[in-house]
Amino acid sequence: MQGKHVVVAVSAGIAAYKAIEVVSRLRKKGAEVKVVMTRNATHIASPLTFGEISGNPVALDMFEQIQNWDVEHIALATWADAYIVVPATANVIAKIYAGIADDMLTTTILATTAPKYICPAMNTEMYNNQITQRNIEGLKALGYHVLEPSSGWLACGVTGIGRLPEPEEIVEWLEAKLCATEEFSGKTILVTAGGTQENIDPVRYIGNRSSGKMGYAIAAEAQKMGARVILVSAPASLDVPHGVEYVPVDSAVSMQKAVESRYKDVDVVIMAAAVSDFRVLNKADHKIKKMDSMTLKLVKNPDILQGLGAHKTHQLLVGFAAETQNVVAYGQDKVYRKHLDMLVANDVSKSNAGFNVDTNEGYFLYPDKEPRAIPNMKKTDLAKCILTEVAELMKLKSTR
Ligand code: PMT
Repeated sequence: MQGKHVVVAVSAGIAAYKAIEVVSRLRKKGAEVKVVMTRNATHIASPLTFGEISGNPVALDMFEQIQNWDVEHIALATWADAYIVVPATANVIAKIYAGIADDMLTTTILATTAPKYICPAMNTEMYNNQITQRNIEGLKALGYHVLEPSSGWLACGVTGIGRLPEPEEIVEWLEAKLCATEEFSGKTILVTAGGTQENIDPVRYIGNRSSGKMGYAIAAEAQKMGARVILVSAPASLDVPHGVEYVPVDSAVSMQKAVESRYKDVDVVIMAAAVSDFRVLNKADHKIKKMDSMTLKLVKNPDILQGLGAHKTHQLLVGFAAETQNVVAYGQDKVYRKHLDMLVANDVSKSNAGFNVDTNEGYFLYPDKEPRAIPNMKKTDLAKCILTEVAELMKLKSTR
């Protein structure tokens, strides 16, 4: 965070006091911080404290003259490398999403082109309300980064989702996002997703249980982090993430063509697709008629990832491994054999990991580092962890 300009915008949630520690932690990490508060937030936490801790005057009033600032809201908006709203109330989230600019906080966030980070905190019912959820999803679709609130005891006396995460977690999240966002700007990431289908005849195929959820989550997150994203997808019943270049394929051979023809122009390849290892030797041109028994002869498909590894130049290669036993050992072997920079090994025998579920877990494996265990989490969160790790690897690669 050294030298980064961070605007911390405080709205009137009871957790506003936690923003003081966020400011303090950001400064300890070397960031320069300016604070914007809504008038209502000043009833909960004192601007004086924020001024002292940030080392800068607090912006409250659109028409107040602050020393050395030009047109205050524009100066602040231009100054920002990152703009974080902490805590973000339901009201302020709704105003931001609607484009309302009626105070210093909402005007500066509308005026800034810096990446924006929102930390919602409110009563559980308000958070779960469809209107709030619509606004949050809308902001995400516009590229805002949103930190999910945690669950626990809330000031309104109930236990549920809506708590502002601890300041340490907020700062770590912001730092990881900011680092990844910078790393990915101007970069192209190709992601493969879904399960390939190998035709037997015009109506039947050999497939697998991949839903595409893991790959689509990675594509969506990479796009939000500022990369140009190409999603090469086997058939999946999922919405294509907004802003992503979509390349539909079906068989392993068609996926290979789509990936290889773009390989020289991409910076990162992440292969989350479940690629069939075999295809039918003589697929029928017409529907095969019913018979008592039949034998299918299968031949080996190309290993797309291994081919990419063998011809790697500047690209960073990330594979997945779907294993049911010896997850680390089998995965590590693939890292070496396919010349990967990183591999996500998941144990697909678990009911809450792998194919066609919303969660996943496993290990990050590397050619030259110890494995890192990844606890069970939503695939959307795992996607963020993978990309944060990819950003780190890219940074290391560029310094070598
Ligand atoms: O789509 P979901 O329902 O969300 O499920 C996610 C997932 C379980 C499919 C995903 O997490 C996963 O593990 N994907 C990789 C599945 C797989 O094919 O694993 P593998 O161990 O067989 O292959 C290792 C790597 O080589 C993979 O990156 C694979 O894309 C690639 N490969 C495999 C075979 C082949 N012929 N060509 C390849 O490029």
